[in-house]
Amino acid sequence: MPATSELMYSPFSKAVFDDPYPVYRRLRNEAPVYRDPEDRWWVLSRFEDVAGALRDWETYSSKLGPAPENPDDDGRKYSVISMDPPRHDRIRGVLKGFFTPRAVASLEGALQSVVDHHLGRLKRGTTVDAMEAFAFAVPTDVIGDLLGVPQADREQLRVWWEAFLTRHEGEVAMPQSAIEANRNISAYIGDLIDRRRTDPGDDLISIVLQATFHDPEIGDDRSLTPHEVLMFCNLLSAAGSETTQKLISNGLVALHDHPDQWQRIVSDHSVIPAAVNEALRYDTPSHWVARTLTRPVELHGVTMDAGDWVLLLLGSANRDERRYDDPDRFIIERPRGTDVYFGWGIHICLGQWLARREAQMVFEYVAKNFPDYAIGAHERVLTATVRGYTSVEMTLR
Ligand code: HEM
Repeated sequence: MPATSELMYSPFSKAVFDDPYPVYRRLRNEAPVYRDPEDRWWVLSRFEDVAGALRDWETYSSKLGPAPENPDDDGRKYSVISMDPPRHDRIRGVLKGFFTPRAVASLEGALQSVVDHHLGRLKRGTTVDAMEAFAFAVPTDVIGDLLGVPQADREQLRVWWEAFLTRHEGEVAMPQSAIEANRNISAYIGDLIDRRRTDPGDDLISIVLQATFHDPEIGDDRSLTPHEVLMFCNLLSAAGSETTQKLISNGLVALHDHPDQWQRIVSDHSVIPAAVNEALRYDTPSHWVARTLTRPVELHGVTMDAGDWVLLLLGSANRDERRYDDPDRFIIERPRGTDVYFGWGIHICLGQWLARREAQMVFEYVAKNFPDYAIGAHERVLTATVRGYTSVEMTLR
């Protein structure tokens, strides 16, 4: 077995990003508490360790944010995703009801018409770029409709979101293009919020603006401050689109690589919800989240100090052979228990039911209309934490 010292893992390496699973396996087996060679963070890769850390927010704090490259300060940059309770729970509570399975079921008609609109334009026998044809557009339109973003501005917003997440090979710092994109998104969403203040609608921005909650710190009910509104809406706009695009395209590529599993879907659409869960596990969009320690932690004989950054590799936990039998195979009907592809614990993805439903509808449309689709050349994009494609050649048949 190779010595631990030869094991190199960097979340910002293009080679790792292109095929992270071999290095994840080595991390789990050889160095379950791995120290970054430049001493910047620890890396946990086993399912039990990642799930345990996600549950223990008091030890594994989110206050500095979900990524060490651009630390936050208690949600000032990235809203709830970088807050601890009690603040986290109060702000998240504002929209909690909007994203439950029942609330998502009430959006069924709206979601289906977005899917039908984009996929209904595609013709059998043609070859398209699946990203351009529907994988970018469906999630962008769904979150665009929910936030009330005018149709004409959505593609620009999508391009900014992508630029915000894109990283340069080997560089930990956010590139200038990502910082500028972040500024543009904030200015755009800020403008939209100002318009909703004077002209409210039934969109998420108006709901966030009008919401009140009890704040024990001031001993009274209050609404979100303008900055809290902006950061929350920014987070929703970015989180709602990039990851779901990757789920749809990673899933269709994986199913093309597992034709027996795709045939299960074609002959029985009732397995689609399970197939979407398996797509989330098998080639997960969100590969890692980060935390900082509030106290020293000893794990597998290694002590991590208070204040240290810890990367939690969701992508590796999803393939841990200690948790999943035959983890490198796509198996729709594998037994399911806790999975961590949407995170776990208090920060578990707010939009998980929405994302699942969007992907389920796309898979169903493809199964009904293009049951023998084929995948050609596909190219990945290097981003901070989200792994997926920028183009996927798909022949519709
Ligand atoms: C396949 C699609 C998606 C994936 C894989 C995904 C993944 C995740 C993960 C891993 C987290 C936890 C972050 C952490 O623990 O630090 C998270 C949080 C979050 N997600 Fe998603 N997400 C997806 C879609 C969405 C959608 C569609 C929305 C909104 C419309 C959304 C909104 C959020 C929000 C607001 C949080 C922060 C929750 C909190 O901190 O309490 N996500 N997501």
